[in-house]
Amino acid sequence: MTDRIPFIAGNWKMNLNIDESVNLVNATLKGMRDLEDVDVLIAPPFTALSAVKQATGKSRILLAAQNMYSETSGAYTGEISGKMLREAGCTHVILGHSERRSLFKETNEMIDLKVRAAVALGFIPIVCIGESLEEREAGTTFEVLRNQLEGSLRNFIKEQFMPYDTILAYEPVWAIGTGLTATPGQAQEVHKFIREWVGKGFDSETADRVRILYGGSVKPDNISDLMSEEDIDGALVGGASLKADSFVQLIRFKEK
Ligand code: PGA
Repeated sequence: MTDRIPFIAGNWKMNLNIDESVNLVNATLKGMRDLEDVDVLIAPPFTALSAVKQATGKSRILLAAQNMYSETSGAYTGEISGKMLREAGCTHVILGHSERRSLFKETNEMIDLKVRAAVALGFIPIVCIGESLEEREAGTTFEVLRNQLEGSLRNFIKEQFMPYDTILAYEPVWAIGTGLTATPGQAQEVHKFIREWVGKGFDSETADRVRILYGGSVKPDNISDLMSEEDIDGALVGGASLKADSFVQLIRFKEK
């Protein structure tokens, strides 16, 4: 089995101005000294990307956009293209976050187009899926997740190829920003299901290499238990990534 390097990502959502963003990055960089074998990524708001890129310099912090549009340019008022995000220094892009799906009505088809455009431009996509509380209570979790995977990754399925560095994120909607976390066992059950889905749809090498992050109220006091599960390769963190103190504790989870 491949040793998958842990991946800790901070999704700042619509928070922090440019100064606050740069301060947070600088404090995170300080906290990362001598950190080994963990990939660290942050996804600031669009307006702070360039300043954050400058602050990260040649450090190991990876930079992601929180969203992008599937077209490269044109009359799409209010949208931002992959080309623009690349210019701002992003290498990764979060796609299909549940807030995009629910608040901005993004469908699997739209997410699939974005994934396709992102990969064509050389981005590593972080594709999010997750069930709602009603869906979990109705016992349809796996069906919902399978539909999201099949719909959002349609192009990979058509091509019979998913790049090894693709990142999938399981974020149960009921755990995002609510303080409720899936238990490590609940999360592991889903992560195993996702990895098996990748194995069946592509091949065992891809399933072995693709990293699957957990997201939803990840905090310094629950990360170690989550990370000790076999198929949990990292975390996509919202609230706890907004303070250097908690984010540094998260990226240093191995030392806890
Ligand atoms: P949270 O958000 O850590 O604040 O629950 C996670 C996410 O939405 O990525």
